[in-house]
Amino acid sequence: MRMYDIIDKKKRGEALTDEEIEFFVKGFTEGEIPDYQVSALLMAICLKGMNEEETTKLTMTMMESGDVMDLSDIPGLKLDKHSTGGIGDKTTLVVEPVMAALGGKVAKMSGRGLGATGGTIDKLDSIPGFSSELTEEAFINQVKEIGMVDAAQTKNLVPADKKLYSLRDVTATVDSISLIASSIMSKKLASGADVILLDVKCGSGAFMREYESAEMLAETMIKIGNNCGRRTAALITDMDQPLGHAVGNSLEVLEAVEVLKGCGEERLTEICRELCAYLYIMSDISDEADEDKRWNEAYKAIDEVIASGKALDKFRQFVKAQGGDDSFVDDPSKLKQPLYKRDVYMDKDGYLESCDATKVGMVSCILGAGRVRKEDSIDSSAGIIINKKLGDRISKDEVFATLYTDKEDILDQAEADLIAAYNVSDNEAEARPVVIKRI
Ligand code: URA
Repeated sequence: MRMYDIIDKKKRGEALTDEEIEFFVKGFTEGEIPDYQVSALLMAICLKGMNEEETTKLTMTMMESGDVMDLSDIPGLKLDKHSTGGIGDKTTLVVEPVMAALGGKVAKMSGRGLGATGGTIDKLDSIPGFSSELTEEAFINQVKEIGMVDAAQTKNLVPADKKLYSLRDVTATVDSISLIASSIMSKKLASGADVILLDVKCGSGAFMREYESAEMLAETMIKIGNNCGRRTAALITDMDQPLGHAVGNSLEVLEAVEVLKGCGEERLTEICRELCAYLYIMSDISDEADEDKRWNEAYKAIDEVIASGKALDKFRQFVKAQGGDDSFVDDPSKLKQPLYKRDVYMDKDGYLESCDATKVGMVSCILGAGRVRKEDSIDSSAGIIINKKLGDRISKDEVFATLYTDKEDILDQAEADLIAAYNVSDNEAEARPVVIKRI
């Protein structure tokens, strides 16, 4: 088999066979096929696409390129939740303890942030003492003992994706539905959960800016998951503005704790509640036959574990199990504090009409909360609190947002960029719902 022929076949829009997909994934991962040939094939896939069978085969071959977690020692269905990435998305920190408090078994591996998009592991690492590096044995034991775990992906989890993603990143081939779906789903499948709920973001802060492409990505990933024997479903959710008020690692952990205490920002609380309810339904916790009653039962159970403090207790138990100091839950000053704070005011009165959420993510990144390159270090206390949501009335006399950083010299630029990321209109404006569709 020759790589040249595989590239030529995809260039003409033909479907690749299982053998051809295995040949290029294995050959590339093992260093036998050069970057320039794989780059050409990736571009052909971007332009001509892959059908369902090809995308499923690509995902499975990528999954098999490294470690595959065996969670069969943990009794019951193992749950996972994945967001395609957004700004201020701290839902995992709420959903996991709520589901564990409801008796679910949450076994999740998370990633770090890059560029405008944050990552759950960076958020958790802002908790003093917290360890996100766990052995497979510790990972499994923690789920058995407390019902939840969240650890960094192991070094040998889907090595094919690490190599392919690095190449996609520099060859303008990231934005292909088949390539994104196989990249995400190969890692989810290798992490071993039986139930996978995908939160597919859509809007100015997401990979998928348009609703139609978000829906197509969600459907593709659901088919892959189901073809591989995992119960998979998705929510399409809004990312036209940051989720909640906080963007930045420790600020987001504190905001997640507010939701667990029952006093979180409205849209953030709504999406967390919906994600938990869907997981509740998918994981057979209920034996209620009527669908509407089942959803009502789910919402009631979720509200109860939050109101009773059981979900917050579970979060504290989780933090301690991974070596973290949970005293910040009562006293936020226990988290690293930034050297500088600056209040930001809008330059006119009106209504908050639109937002470029990626720009907001980049402001947080230059304040120190994110990485421009993979090897950059991050400042856990850096970030932004934005007091207003789209549709809100704005007055130039009230504090719109506060910037937090250790880098005084970038405050002027960050302030100007944040103001430029929003559009204030004289006319009343409305935000779209945070949960757009259940699939
Ligand atoms: N997240 C991933 O893990 N892979 C992609 O290709 C895009 C987003």
